[in-house]
Amino acid sequence: MSLPSEVKIYEVGPRDGLQNETQNIPTDIKIELIERLADAGLTYIEATSFVSPKAVPQMADHNEVMAGITRKEGVTYAALIPNERGMENALQSGVDEVAIFASASEEFSQKNINCSIEESYVRFAPVMEMANAANIPVRGYVSCVAGCPYEGEVAPEKVAEVAKHLYDMGCYEISLGDTIGIGTPDRIRTMLEAVMATNIPAEKLALHCHDTHSHALTNIEEGLKMGIAVVDSSVAGLGGCPYAPGASGNVATEDVLELLDKLGITTNINKKAVLDTAEFISKHLQRGSS
Ligand code: HMG
Ligand code: MG
Repeated sequence: MSLPSEVKIYEVGPRDGLQNETQNIPTDIKIELIERLADAGLTYIEATSFVSPKAVPQMADHNEVMAGITRKEGVTYAALIPNERGMENALQSGVDEVAIFASASEEFSQKNINCSIEESYVRFAPVMEMANAANIPVRGYVSCVAGCPYEGEVAPEKVAEVAKHLYDMGCYEISLGDTIGIGTPDRIRTMLEAVMATNIPAEKLALHCHDTHSHALTNIEEGLKMGIAVVDSSVAGLGGCPYAPGASGNVATEDVLELLDKLGITTNINKKAVLDTAEFISKHLQRGSS
């Protein structure tokens, strides 16, 4: 298969990037981050999550973040939703899109959202109904697609089963998460083949790679060769999941833009503005940008 001519970047920095930070990040810094990303040309931004503040204290200011953003036309401001309660709150805050998140590993599901994979489908059913009634698109994440921090190996067939379940529930796009960044190109290819064998079209799939072992870019390139045209990334390579020991940052948005440039795939994203945004947030978090 040839490379896609266009790639959509789904920016997860304000949510996946910041959720694991233990230091207090003022709400206005989060808002400025989101606004800078939108100004840089990113059109899909996961702005926050409506999860329990006991589970992820950093996202407790979800209402204030959503209310504080000056919205830019053409930008989708999305949020991660664990249950009906989160969805109610998210709808009130005026989200444009939501994402539900399941896992291909039972143990990670328990640790992350305190229920089994099957139970998570039951929790997500009313969320889907509420989204449909409000005309809000729903994205579906599958975590641990290349392995689990607790169970180790995760069968590609299990990833395919969970992906298909979310797709059949009505998710318009399925984002396949290498939560702890242990994928290799071979593993990613085998996993994608299994998912595609369930008849989810390649254009409905996204790759969400954490970069723990610096394989994210080669894994993404492998995915692009297989027809994947949506890539999740996080400005400055921020990120991690508090319930996935060993998960480091997501692949950096600026590095994905470099890769796409190298492959001759254009985007309407201003690389310099993304780099400036990486510097802005890195300075704030007192770490070097990637
Ligand atoms: P639980 O303890 O089973 O739920 O948690 P519960 O219904 O018993 O509620 C417990 C408490 O939380 C109650 O408060 C609820 O009111 C409250 P209390 O009575 O004790 O004072 N609560 C809420 N508060 C605000 N908003 C809500 C909400 N729901 C309950 N929506 C639950 C279950 C799912 C809520 C919890 O485990 C949770 O929030 N987990 C989220 C964990 C998380 O955000 N992880 C990181 C994101 S996933 C990720 O990073 C992976 C991804 O990037 C892809 C990849 O990399 O693979 C997406
Ligand atoms: Mg993630």
